[in-house]
Amino acid sequence: MNEKINRMEFLKSLGLKGASLFAVYCAASGLSSCVNESMDPTLPPGTGGNTNELVLDLTNPTYSKLNTVGNYVIVNSIVIARVSETAFAAVTQVCSHEGKKKVNFRNGEFYCPEHGARFGTGGNGLNSEGKKGLKTYQTEFSGTSLKVFL
Ligand code: FES
Repeated sequence: MNEKINRMEFLKSLGLKGASLFAVYCAASGLSSCVNESMDPTLPPGTGGNTNELVLDLTNPTYSKLNTVGNYVIVNSIVIARVSETAFAAVTQVCSHEGKKKVNFRNGEFYCPEHGARFGTGGNGLNSEGKKGLKTYQTEFSGTSLKVFL
């Protein structure tokens, strides 16, 4: 582990997240390393990671509802649901039926209220409106951190 990573870990250990961590880290590092190592500034507050992943901190109040099975959050147009004690599912919020950005999660499945399309946690269609399925995203859960791979 090199010195720069150690410094980043240290700042994270102080409880700094997302934009504030980015700002402190850049100030401490100088502009040149900021260009190479910046976190994605388009990510919502409380997320980390880079352009290829979202990292949700489930101790952050914005995402802590994911500690309960059956709940979901929507981040960057991705519906992220806790489907069991150990499993999560993530799908696009854009319905494959007629493209409405209304997909949510209820009763253990993804659902679009526009015309009633239903999808399984694997993105598979469960009725005629949902027959085209939904794009899914891989997830990885560790401790209180949930990664969604974009
Ligand atoms: S647009 Fe979602 S069910 Fe029709």
